[in-house]
Amino acid sequence: MSTQQSIKIENLVKEFGKGDSLLRVIDGASFTVNKGELIALIAPSGAGKTTLLMMIGCVINPTSGTIWLGDEKVYEDKWITHNSRKIRREKIGFIFQAHYLIPFLNVIENVTLVPQTNGVSEKQAKADAMKLLEYLDIADKAYSKPSALSGGQNQRVAIARALANNPQIILADEPTAALDSARALSVIQMLKKIATEQNVAIIMVTHDERMVQRCDKIMKIENKKIVFETVDVPS
Ligand SMILES: Nc1ncnc2c1ncn2[C@@H]1O[C@H](COP(=O)(O)OP(=O)(O)OP(=O)(O)O)[C@@H](O)[C@H]1O
Ligand SMILES: [Mg+2]
Repeated sequence: MSTQQSIKIENLVKEFGKGDSLLRVIDGASFTVNKGELIALIAPSGAGKTTLLMMIGCVINPTSGTIWLGDEKVYEDKWITHNSRKIRREKIGFIFQAHYLIPFLNVIENVTLVPQTNGVSEKQAKADAMKLLEYLDIADKAYSKPSALSGGQNQRVAIARALANNPQIILADEPTAALDSARALSVIQMLKKIATEQNVAIIMVTHDERMVQRCDKIMKIENKKIVFETVDVPS
């Protein structure tokens, strides 16, 4: 495995249900994402984008195939690691369609939870979190509960949380859908910066053409397989 490879998928298959209700969503996907790449994942609703991210993120079980994360083979027809939750916590930052913040923790507690679980001191985790919250223009809500924030504000907190453990891989499912265009732009600029400067591999589901133009490559799900396209930037 080359040192530049961050995600390597071979012959991945995902089926839901069985018998008459069997649905094969992904049918033999193979691809590689390198460190430092920002990839736009585009496909119609129901094509399997979220399903694919959830498998890469060790959240749902593939039916078969192989998944490498960095230099570690994590799945080969079964999970190889005993603790996929630990892999997820240490390597992966997730930004979901819905924000999934913990309702009884305030903003800064939500952002510092994973770093502290990984052994970062409370003081350091809080200082790091405040920087991220400031960058995302939401620091004034650090001590509010998610229920007191708007959808877009919660989405920004969720982005801060995903970045807080310095993940090697970021999986983002329409991270800018709930944001106005200025904030969406600043989020994509930040993701681009993180990819380039910290050599992080990012796969981002988006339908927004302006976001796609800032990515390095386009990944599509076609015929239940993965194909890549280059990004056309209008001159
Ligand atoms: N837990 C599940 N059980 C059964 N079928 C499922 C399950 N999760 C997803 N599916 C099916 O798998 C297919 C892919 O779903 P997925 O959520 O990955 O699509 P998507 O590309 O993310 O769509 P969207 O753009 O609407 O978010 C859909 O047909 C969906 O109904
Ligand atoms: Mg989805």
